[in-house]
Amino acid sequence: MTRHSEDGPAPVRRTETRVVNAGRDPAAYHGFVNPPVYHASTVIYPTADDYVARRSHFVYGRYGTPTTEALEQALQELEGPQCVDVALLPSGLAAISTALLSVLHAGDHLLVTDSAYLPTRNFCDKILSRLGIATTYYDPLIGGAIAGLIQSNTRAIYLESPGSLSFEMQDIAAIAEAAHARGAVVLMDNTWGTPLYCRALEKGVDLAIHAGTKYIGGHADVMLGTIAANSTTAANLKTTVRLIGMCVGPDDIYLGLRGLRTLAVRLERHYQSGLTVARWLEQRPEVLRLIHPALESHPGHALWKRDFTGACGLFSVVLKPVPQKAVHTFLDALELFGMGPSWGGFESLAIPFDCGSFRTATQWAPGGPTVRFHIGLEAVEDLVADLERGFAALAVEHS
Ligand SMILES: Cc1ncc(COP(=O)(O)O)c(C=O)c1O
Repeated sequence: MTRHSEDGPAPVRRTETRVVNAGRDPAAYHGFVNPPVYHASTVIYPTADDYVARRSHFVYGRYGTPTTEALEQALQELEGPQCVDVALLPSGLAAISTALLSVLHAGDHLLVTDSAYLPTRNFCDKILSRLGIATTYYDPLIGGAIAGLIQSNTRAIYLESPGSLSFEMQDIAAIAEAAHARGAVVLMDNTWGTPLYCRALEKGVDLAIHAGTKYIGGHADVMLGTIAANSTTAANLKTTVRLIGMCVGPDDIYLGLRGLRTLAVRLERHYQSGLTVARWLEQRPEVLRLIHPALESHPGHALWKRDFTGACGLFSVVLKPVPQKAVHTFLDALELFGMGPSWGGFESLAIPFDCGSFRTATQWAPGGPTVRFHIGLEAVEDLVADLERGFAALAVEHS
């Protein structure tokens, strides 16, 4: 909330408190806890002079309303002191494409992690290429050696850490240092970390992107994207968002705001249940290995510990080699895990995946079939029982 005691500086508050209060000002809305949902296009100006000078806090529906501003302010506070502006877009992918367009020009070169979300690659390969922007994919584990890939026209380096299927942890600070030394900006898809578990701008990122569709919304009922900008990138971001003309409908903004208020408690549960299920899976005879950054067995565990204060409910498993049909039997036998791609909601998910067909800088050879799990808010004992049922079906299929 914006109400502060008049005497002395505002107290330092913990994340759980800030997530509840950031961007909230009941006094501005007749005392009601939440801001109203403004359905709005035009803004009426009191006089012709005011209109000509666009003298109004809000100037047009596309540029935002008090509902939009409430979510932007809340996210800005959560992203930390380096964040000077937040843009809201109608999906996570729209946030990714808009953030890239805000920093790139014809003739520029872009470095993108090989572990990036596939539609991000598609945008680079099919849209940016048409605009004369060349993309090179790099090994997500490259660290400071990325300096060797930076060309004279490299304007931006894009990270997704961890990769949302394969979970490689990237050395954000080392990559950011190499980028900044050569005048390039750093973008990161931080959907997995959320602003609660990784404040990316603090680590050297210039544009931190979230698919708000996932944990910020948190209920599998909204499409939303957010971009947090620092002082290097904020002005271009704002101009780009305005020129492109994308904006988010008021009900979706409201769902983002509503989801945000419970993000800390939901994430904590996703984190703990995810770890419990991952540790259980790690002991199963059908499992070759877990790919979960918060497990000590993960090769990027030290980077996770350095840069993140928690983990969400998303991780992958490599099964011991079995025919793909047996994997499908396992998945089809699950009753509590839905088979769908968009994670971050309250419900558990499981999908088969294979990165082999689209990687270009690294080889995807996990040693067995791979399944990505999203651990939801159900009782963890029920989820484990469901997985036991799945493994029993797999055993029958495979015997
Ligand atoms: C890591 C990551 N980034 C971005 C997106 C895109 O978000 P949206 O579906 O809101 O466009 C996704 C969606 O699955 C994702 O997993």
